[in-house]
Amino acid sequence: MSADRINELVSLLSAERVLTTAADLEHYGRDWTRWWQPAPLAVALPENIAEVQALVRWAIQRKVAIVPSGGRTGLSGGAVAAHGELVVSFERMHRIGEFDPLDRTLTVEAGAVTETVQQAARERGLCYPVDFGSRGSSQIGGNIATNAGGIKVIRYGMTREWVAGLKVVDGRGELLDLNRGLVKNATGYDLRHLMIGSEGTLGLVVETTLRLTDAPRNLQVMLLAVPDMAAVMRLLELARGRLALTAFEFFTDRAMDHVLTEGGQSPFETRAACYVLVEYEGVGDHESAAMAVFESGMENGWLSDGVMAQSETQAQALWRLREGITESVARYTPYKNDVSVRVSRVQAFLSDMDALFACEYPDIEVVWFGHVGDGNLHVSVLKPESMDKAAFEHACERVTGMLCDVLEKHGGSISAEHGVGLLKKPYLSRVRSAAEIELMRQMKRVFDPHGILNPGKLL
Ligand code: MLT
Ligand code: ZN
Repeated sequence: MSADRINELVSLLSAERVLTTAADLEHYGRDWTRWWQPAPLAVALPENIAEVQALVRWAIQRKVAIVPSGGRTGLSGGAVAAHGELVVSFERMHRIGEFDPLDRTLTVEAGAVTETVQQAARERGLCYPVDFGSRGSSQIGGNIATNAGGIKVIRYGMTREWVAGLKVVDGRGELLDLNRGLVKNATGYDLRHLMIGSEGTLGLVVETTLRLTDAPRNLQVMLLAVPDMAAVMRLLELARGRLALTAFEFFTDRAMDHVLTEGGQSPFETRAACYVLVEYEGVGDHESAAMAVFESGMENGWLSDGVMAQSETQAQALWRLREGITESVARYTPYKNDVSVRVSRVQAFLSDMDALFACEYPDIEVVWFGHVGDGNLHVSVLKPESMDKAAFEHACERVTGMLCDVLEKHGGSISAEHGVGLLKKPYLSRVRSAAEIELMRQMKRVFDPHGILNPGKLL
C-alpha cells in the first residue's frame, strides 16, 4: 500500500526527489520544536509549480495529508509531520527571479532562504528588511505562511507588509495569482492577506513578489544596562522620540549568562538585571541625540551603564548577545511562550506574568527576552535535567492555561510571531472568539475542501 504510493510519487517527480529513508523522514518531518516524533510517509521535492499542483491532486485522490516544509525553523510545530503525511519541501524551488527597479520588487520562489533574498536585495542597491536570527535557514514561503516578525518589526513591520504578490496552490490544486505586485488594488477581498499567516492550512506558497526598500543608513548599535522593566519602557519612550530606531530588543541577565556559556564576554564590568539593545540609523546629529538619551537615562536611574559599538565587529558582538539566546538554551528542550500585548501594556502585563511564573515555576528556570519595542515577549521555560519530559509538558501546559487569563486581562495574544501550529492550538479559543474560529473553519473548507493541507495545525 505504502509502496504503491511511493511509486506513484516517483512517477510524478523522480526517484531522487522522493525521499523515504528514516534519516530523511526524521529530518524533514520536524521543525525546531522537539516535542513530537516525526513520522511522515515520504518527502517530495518539487522543482516547479506544476509539480506542486500534481502533488496536491495526487494527495486529494489518495487522501494523504500534505505538510509544507520550508527551513523548518518554526517554533510551534507548524511543520511537524507525525502521522504519515507527505512532506512537500520547497528547497528545490529557490530561484531569485525578476527584479524591477521602478516597482522596487523582487520575485522569488518559496524556497529562497531569507538571507539569500536579503543579499539579492542588497546587490540591487535596496533592502529586504524583515530579519531574524534564523535568516540563514528560514525560507520565504515559511516566513509568509507564518507572517514572520523578528528583530526589525518596530521599524518595518511583519512579513505581511512586504508581500506585493503571492502565488499559492490551494487545496483543490488550483494556482491562485494574488495581487500581482500592485500597490493599489481595490477589488474586494484581499486573499493574499488571508494566505499570509495561515500556516499552510489554506494553500501552499510557491512564489512571491516582495517589496524592497532603501537600505538603512549608517546603523549604530548600543547596549544599555537597565535595572528593571519599568526603566526599559521609559527608555523606549525616550529613545523613540530622539533616534531613528530600527530595533529595540530586551533580554535578562540570565539570558546573557546562557549566551556567554557558549563563549564571549559581557561588555559591562557590573552586571544589571536586564539589557536593551538599541539599533538606529546614524543620521542628522545622531551623536548628540544618543548622548542625550544616555544622559537622561542615567539621571533618571533608567540605566546604569551603556556601550556603543565602534565597529561592525563590535556591533555584531552586541547583536550576538541577543541573537544567540535561542541557540544557547536549545539543549534544555525549552517550552516557548511567544506572547504580545500593546506596547503600552507591556510593563503591567510583564509584572503579572512574572508573578504567575514565580509562583507556578518555582523550581524551573525561565529565560526572558524579546522584541519589547513592538510588545512581543519571549519566555523560554527550560526543562530541568532531572524532570521527566511528560511531567514538564504537563506543567507548561497548565501554566500556559493560566497565562491565558493574564493575556485576557491585558488584551494580548498567545502567539505574537511563532504561529499557532500544534503547540498553541489548545489556547486559540482563549484569544480568538468562537465566532472568529467558526469563520476560520469555514474558510478552511473553502480553500481546502478535502482537508489535506496541514490538517490538525492551527484550528
Ligand atoms: C527570537 O526572537 O529570537 C525568536 O523568536 C526565537 C525564540 O523565541 O527563541
Ligand atoms: Zn522573536
